[in-house]
Amino acid sequence: MPATVVVGGAFGDEGKGKVVAYLALADKPAGAVRTGAINAGHTVVHKGRMWKLRIVPSAFLSENTKLFIAPGALTRIDVFLKEVEETGVEGRIMIDEKTGIIEDKHVKMERENEYLMKVIGSTGQGVGAAMVERVLRVLKLARDFPELKRYVGDTVAIVNDLLDKGEIVLVEGTQGTFLSLYHGTYPYVTSRDVTASAVLSEAGIGPRKVGDIILVFKAYWTRVGAGELPGELPPEEAAKRGWVEYGTVTGRPRRVAPFNVEWAKRAIMLNTPTQIAITKIDALFPEAKGKRRWEDLPVEARRWIEDLEDKLKVPITLIGTGEDAEDMVDRRREIFGK
Ligand code: IMP
Ligand code: MG
Repeated sequence: MPATVVVGGAFGDEGKGKVVAYLALADKPAGAVRTGAINAGHTVVHKGRMWKLRIVPSAFLSENTKLFIAPGALTRIDVFLKEVEETGVEGRIMIDEKTGIIEDKHVKMERENEYLMKVIGSTGQGVGAAMVERVLRVLKLARDFPELKRYVGDTVAIVNDLLDKGEIVLVEGTQGTFLSLYHGTYPYVTSRDVTASAVLSEAGIGPRKVGDIILVFKAYWTRVGAGELPGELPPEEAAKRGWVEYGTVTGRPRRVAPFNVEWAKRAIMLNTPTQIAITKIDALFPEAKGKRRWEDLPVEARRWIEDLEDKLKVPITLIGTGEDAEDMVDRRREIFGK
């Protein structure tokens, strides 16, 4: 089954962008679909260059991969056009005719909403306000804007055709399981479901076409905005451990906690992953930095991974060791023999 779904297991910012970029370079999929919206920032670093993507699929690094924006996704037109230019993907990116379009009025509606901005800690990108209009069936879609004409098409038909031919298609989720509108720490959540099932629905891919679901966790956990973060550390402790991060879209400092096995098990229940990716192992074990082979990881890092794998009962196939897309230990061959 050729569709591979990549989703977040925590509160977003697990490193999905990096994992998708790695898989694109390693597997050269025929297609890659971005779901979600522009409140999500996916960072891709490769050969000294950095891209902070809010709508273009993180698989763009693979030059022959066709890129798609899902019908269930939402974008601003200016963000889309700017990223198409920055990534140089003109000619191989298609936005679905039904992708939702966020306009200035949606951003304004959110920024004027104190509950959303102050209590929930929304990123204020207009995504929730546009979703409200979509549910009320007044939101404009990509097909309604002449400036998008040359990019618009039926991505669902093309993606399913690729899958039916046995081609690999990567499906990129956004945010993380506990930011899900249904399964997260409501009301401190985003405006959509973000679990594997929802991501497939957004892309227009039936569950029987899925071969792999890769659930991404970071070696330590972070959260921006309000809401429970299990095991949250005081900022001084986070700084001492070197776990300081800032939001990609908002620049806000991220709250920090150690990896939480119990919550990870719930994320596994909700997403049914066939594989797990752990990013930033080098934040726990500095000697792991930049390593690309299992044997080259320090023994304590290998032990930490194996112990976690025993607890989670899902193979940990991908281990991120640095910011470059290719700083990755890939155990898929060793574990699955393929
Ligand atoms: P909104 O979806 O922008 O309204 O934000 C709602 C909550 O989800 C806030 O706590 C945000 O910080 C969080 N959130 C939304 N998108 C992301 C993301 O991509 N990464 C991390 N947190 C996010
Ligand atoms: Mg992010």
